[in-house]
Parts: sequence; C-alpha cells; structure tokens
Amino acid sequence: MSILFQPMKIRSMELRNRFVRSATCDCLADGTGHVSEKQIKIFVELAKGGVGLIVTGIAYVHHSGQILTNQNSIAGDDCIAGFKKLTANVHDQGGKVALQLFHGGRDRAEFLRGKNEQAIAPSFIQNDPYFTEEYRSMTQDEIWDIIGAFGDGAKRAGEAGFDAVQLHAAHAFLPSQFLSPYTNRRSDEWGGSLENRLRFHREIYQDIRAKVGADYPVLIKLGVQDGFPGGLEFSEGKQAARLLSQWGYDALEISQGLRGEWYEGTEFRSKIDCLDREGYFRNWCKEVKSEVNVPTIMVGGLRTFELMEEVIEKCEADFVSLSRPLIKEPGIINEWKSGNRHGATCISCNMCLEALRDGEELQCKQQAS
Ligand SMILES: Cc1cc2nc3c(=O)[nH]c(=O)nc-3n(C[C@H](O)[C@H](O)[C@H](O)COP(=O)(O)O)c2cc1C
Repeated sequence: MSILFQPMKIRSMELRNRFVRSATCDCLADGTGHVSEKQIKIFVELAKGGVGLIVTGIAYVHHSGQILTNQNSIAGDDCIAGFKKLTANVHDQGGKVALQLFHGGRDRAEFLRGKNEQAIAPSFIQNDPYFTEEYRSMTQDEIWDIIGAFGDGAKRAGEAGFDAVQLHAAHAFLPSQFLSPYTNRRSDEWGGSLENRLRFHREIYQDIRAKVGADYPVLIKLGVQDGFPGGLEFSEGKQAARLLSQWGYDALEISQGLRGEWYEGTEFRSKIDCLDREGYFRNWCKEVKSEVNVPTIMVGGLRTFELMEEVIEKCEADFVSLSRPLIKEPGIINEWKSGNRHGATCISCNMCLEALRDGEELQCKQQAS
C-alpha cells in the first residue's frame, strides 16, 4: 500500500490517510454565518471521496474579523447546532474535520466600504502602496479581546464535534499581519522582535489550550514568507515555525504569508501544467520539516500522485493538502486508492476563485474556460 494511505495521528486525532483538504472558503453559509445544506453536501462528498482530514473554509471568531458575505461564523453559540450536523455527517463517512479559525484584520476594509466601521490591524501604515483601504491600529484591549475570541471559537468547535481546529496564520490576514515586519510596526510587546511579533500566535494557542483541554489537536496554517520586498523573509518564517511547534501547536501547514503579485506571489499560483510548477511551497515545507518535531502538511499546487508519494517517502512532509483539485474532483482520493492514479485534472485556472470573489458560490468553472 502506498505510504499516502497509511494512517497517522496528529495529537489525539487518528487520520485514515495523508490527504488533507486544505481550507477552502465556499461562501455558502446562510446570511447569518450558519451552516447550509449545500455545505453539508460538499463535506459529505469529500469524506465519501476518501479525504483524511477536511479543513473548513475561514470561520470568523469575532464580528470584526468577517471579510465576506456568506462566510461561516464561529463567533457565537448560535453557530454550534449547524456545525454539529456537518461534523456528524463527515464522521458517518469515516472522515475527520477541522474548523479553520479566522480573523481578517485590515483585509476586512474592502468588505466595510460604505459602512460606518473601520477595520483593525496591528499597525496603521501611512502611504502604504500595497494597501490603500481605510483601517486603524488595534488597542491592547482589542488584541486581548480577539485572542479570547479565538479561544472561544475553538471551544465552540469542540462542542460542535470538530476533531481539531486550525488557526489561519497565513495569506493576508490578522495573524500574518502581526508576524510580518512590514504590517507590524508596533513598539510595544506585540511588535519588534520575532518573538514579540509571534506573541499574538502564542497567546492564542495558550487561550485555546486552556479552553479545549490537553488532548484536542490545535493546528496552524503558517505563512512563512511574504510575497514582496520588505516583508517576512523565509529565514524568519522558518524560525517562527520552530517556535510555534515548541510552544505547542500540533501540526503546521506551510503556506504563503502576505500576498505579492497576483497570482504568482500568492498561495494560489495558476497554470500548474508541468511537474516543475507543482508543489510550489515544497522547499519551504521540507526545510521546516527538518526543524520541527510535530507533523507538517505540504500545500500548494500538488497534482501528481507520484510526486506526493515522494514527498512523504522522503520525509519532506507528513501530509499533503489540496484545495482546487478537490473542487473539481472530490472523489479523487478514492480513485487513487483503487489504483487509478491519473493526475488531478484541475488546471489551476483560478476561475473558481474569481467566481467566489464576484459573489458566486464555490464551483469548478474550468469547463467554461
Ligand atoms: C476557492 C478557494 C478558496 C480558498 N479558501 C481558503 C480558506 O478559506 N482558507 C485558507 O487558508 N486557504 C484558502 N484557500 C487556499 C487553499 O487552501 C490552498 O492553500 C491553495 O489553493 C493552494 O492549494 P491548491 O494548489 O491545492 O489549490 C482557498 C483557495 C481557493 C482556490
């Protein structure tokens, strides 16, 4: 049997294989952030299709972190019942599911246009060529409030039957904004040195752990390098990964930090049409893996079974994580298991993503291209 189908544990969570469905926002929650029947259907299909661990899309932990209409919320107890139904359905299919805990920070600004509210961020940056929306820097009290909201969100996730939580600390969002020396210009204990810029992540972990107990798996998706000069560099991103694993995070999914050039400097590069374009964060993950003692998850343009097998066999990661291929082919893992090891047919055209940004529901639009 391929190593990709060997079970492995993340803390107390036993996974049936090494395939993770990387967090994928579907914009299918109802207008109040609650789970919809359409979402349950997607998750059941993925679990039926053989995915070991499904990570949900971004679920905001506090209203100040919401960035999209029809995004899921875990900011109140009213969200628990819907998620309970979703997790039970995944478990019925032998799958496991983690909730992705999210706060958008300054990236909420676009969503707030025309509304009487300002987005919040570690620091306000004057004349920032990369970000021209309105926002303001957070007070100390606000930082502690949001940390507590992450812990509360994790507790609710446990009550709703999720097998784990994953802190979204990658891409354009609040924890990445704290870690990046570009967006974090604070002169108090939340800014400056790497350990200070990681204090937010550390306090979130401690708050979550205090609220969920010792056995519950707490994962992190970490952006280890920003996509523009003056941002987080990999040398620091790698140290961050090591520190976070030492402080207690149970598994690290390695991704992009703040985004640069669209799409080539983002987490969703396009035109993955040859082996050389595949696994575009492979080297980052491999280097991090050699530094940490917790499982690592590789993500980013993984499309070929043999390449993923090699990654695990060579100990470059413990799990492989896919998003776009599973939008098009939610049953591909079981196809691979049955011996039909064709490459994923997703061509990474990103029309799924563009449709989502235009307010449409998640769907593969490749045929239409
Ligand atoms: C439609 C879409 C929605 C996504 N939503 C999320 C999300 O909610 N949280 C997250 O961390 N990443 C999200 N991502 C990024 C993916 O998890 C993944 O990191 C990226 O697409 C690279 O993997 P892939 O090449 O297998 O698609 C999304 C990607 C796509 C295409």
